Amino acid sequence: MSRKTVLKYKNYDVHSITSVSPSGKVNANIATWVMQSAMQGKYLTVALYKTDYTIQLVRESMILNVNLLAQDQAKKLIPKLGRKSGLTSNKFVNLPFEVDERGCPFLTEAIGYIQCKCVGSIDSGDHELFVCEVIKQVTLNPDKEVLTNNYLRENGLVRG
Ligand SMILES: Cc1cc2nc3c(=O)[nH]c(=O)nc-3n(C[C@H](O)[C@H](O)[C@H](O)COP(=O)(O)O)c2cc1C
Repeated sequence: MSRKTVLKYKNYDVHSITSVSPSGKVNANIATWVMQSAMQGKYLTVALYKTDYTIQLVRESMILNVNLLAQDQAKKLIPKLGRKSGLTSNKFVNLPFEVDERGCPFLTEAIGYIQCKCVGSIDSGDHELFVCEVIKQVTLNPDKEVLTNNYLRENGLVRG
């Protein structure tokens, strides 16, 4: 009997990290590796892939928003934000969003977003972990269902 490796049993919520550079360039990705890392929700830690456009903008500004995605966003946003780079496509065309008081986008159809200021980072192989102070949490669509990696697997939107 073939067995899955232990980490394959884990489920994750699905987010979009929205970012802005000091010169006003904006972007959005898909990220599952996001976790609360202090009591009372004061800090989050976000793993960003080193070769992506998102990490370039975050390194420059050290600010981001974590958007907790809803199930009804999956079909449209996984291919649009998670399989293309903002370096080569404008992801904000036909994407419902607004910007916060810092100019950082947030996705208005998400469950809500967490406004973050990055306070440091550490190497994690092909990713870099950004420790972020939570500035505020804003709930936008309280009745939607949270999108999870298991939902993506069950609906054929990711493999493994
Ligand atoms: C289901 C799923 C989960 C992902 N999780 C992460 C993640 O936790 N961190 C990350 O940096 N990229 C993650 N990615 C990959 C990025 O979303 C993807 O490389 C995206 O195209 C990057 O876009 P950008 O170059 O515009 O930043 C994930 C992609 C998918 C489809």
